[in-house]
Amino acid sequence: MPADLRESWCIRDVEIPTRLVLAPMAGVSVQAFRRQGRRFGAGLVCSEMVSCAGIEHRNERTLGYLRVAGDEHPLAIQIFGSEPRAMAEAAQMAEAAGADLVDINFGCPVRKVTKTGAGATLLDKPARACAIVEAVAGAVDVPVSVKMRRGLRDGARTCLEVGPQLVDAGAATLTLHPRSAEQMYTGWADHALTAELVALVDVPVIASGDITSRAKAQSILAATGAAAVMVGRGAQGNPWILREIVDGDVDDPSREEIVAELVLFIRETVRELGERRASSFLKKFYGWYLGGGRFPRPFKQELVLLDSTEAVQRLLAAAPGALPLLERLEAELPGGDEVLLDLPISVYGGG
Ligand SMILES: Cc1cc2nc3c(=O)[nH]c(=O)nc-3n(C[C@H](O)[C@H](O)[C@H](O)COP(=O)(O)O)c2cc1C
Repeated sequence: MPADLRESWCIRDVEIPTRLVLAPMAGVSVQAFRRQGRRFGAGLVCSEMVSCAGIEHRNERTLGYLRVAGDEHPLAIQIFGSEPRAMAEAAQMAEAAGADLVDINFGCPVRKVTKTGAGATLLDKPARACAIVEAVAGAVDVPVSVKMRRGLRDGARTCLEVGPQLVDAGAATLTLHPRSAEQMYTGWADHALTAELVALVDVPVIASGDITSRAKAQSILAATGAAAVMVGRGAQGNPWILREIVDGDVDDPSREEIVAELVLFIRETVRELGERRASSFLKKFYGWYLGGGRFPRPFKQELVLLDSTEAVQRLLAAAPGALPLLERLEAELPGGDEVLLDLPISVYGGG
């Protein structure tokens, strides 16, 4: 029988209402993206990776990543770093910000991160990786999860050696993106490794990589025994894929629905990041939402040159029927009862 994506499951005492997790993505997973993900059926959403050094030095932009809205839960905040004590302190900040889980990044392949000894490089330093997990798990009450790649080099099976050690050190769940760091995003995710990892550990495993349809999600759940699937790139500018995966709802969104969601996303992002940061952040989203033949190419190019208010006007002019949908969406959004931390006022004031 195919897996029921609507089934709830637990990471220790945290109940996750569906078997679909929205992936952490740097430069993408802002509050607006996560809230939208929850609305479209993701049972768990995750912040992008947050630097523990940035938290330690009270960097304002880093602290801004710790803003959590009331309708995001359950939510994981992901941290990265290489120093157990600093990671433990960062985890405490994440918990205070409202995280239901603290996720540790042992997967980032980007040189800027790996050269500091963080991210995927920790897979080749199991003692340090375990020390980080132990320190973090000892510092917070919420469950701790780890997200990792298969290893550093192509063909590596390091995750199968390190994964069980991380569980012994206190990880309550593991997410595996079974590509090597060297692969970056080329080739494909080898979920045969996910199945092997599931057999080795007695905590839930989340399968990440190349899941872009309900059929793929169901076949990976069945073949691996994973507790849940994680979707990343497939959901960029396409929240409808989440509904398709969870509910089998395969109707393509209308132009009006696309515009209503995009305008809501623009407005929320401007509120979160401020106009200046939001306008460069949003550029890629115009392509993602409006691409794939949904809208003519010159229209996307035109939007990129506009400020957010003008872009909203142009979008609503292109699909006037989107306005009542947008009004309904905005009326139905729960109030943003954000956890307020003792952070510099500019972190909240910047949108
Ligand atoms: C733009 C981008 C940013 C990402 N940032 C993060 C991150 O901050 N933390 C992390 O653990 N993984 C990150 N990832 C990896 C994804 O979470 C996911 O594991 C990977 O994209 C494979 O899933 P997919 O094929 O569904 O995209 C990122 C991926 C992309 C494409």
